[in-house]
Amino acid sequence: HDNAGSCLERTLVMIKPNMISKSDQIIPEIEQAGFVILQQRRVRFTPEQASDFYAEHYGKMFFPSLIAFMSSGPTLAMVVAKRNAINGFRQILGPTNSEQAREVNPKSFRARYGTDTLKNAMHGSESQHAAEREIRFIFPDSITEPILSGDESTQY
Ligand code: TYD
Repeated sequence: HDNAGSCLERTLVMIKPNMISKSDQIIPEIEQAGFVILQQRRVRFTPEQASDFYAEHYGKMFFPSLIAFMSSGPTLAMVVAKRNAINGFRQILGPTNSEQAREVNPKSFRARYGTDTLKNAMHGSESQHAAEREIRFIFPDSITEPILSGDESTQY
């Protein structure tokens, strides 16, 4: 497309370990916001996988707690599609810090489901480059794979 700003895009969304129990409530909200869930997978990150996923943050003060949190239980990962999905999902996700989210965007997911900066309930890719990398990371066959239905897509 010439107008990249209005392209049908895919982005990676994750419901983090502290909120996976709310998936039945959160998933319809994602769909009501106009996102089509193309793939869905429950993953349990090992510390090594979490470190790899968040490699850009290696060495930062919060890195050890981030890795411990992300490997503390299962995560529900989804590939979702919409026009401008990447920025659009970041909008309804809210800022990284859940307390700030409650101030600037009280309707956002992080405002409503997040606790603080670490336990911020959900993830959404922040750029086209990140989305492609993260989708490949979680769904290595995503380019050719049809929409999942069946066992793996409903195990949460
Ligand atoms: P980051 O990529 O900056 O934020 P986002 O998830 O909004 O794209 O950070 C990745 C995760 O690292 C973030 O979701 C939670 C954790 N984190 C902290 O625990 N403390 C911090 O100060 C930051 C910036 C992030």
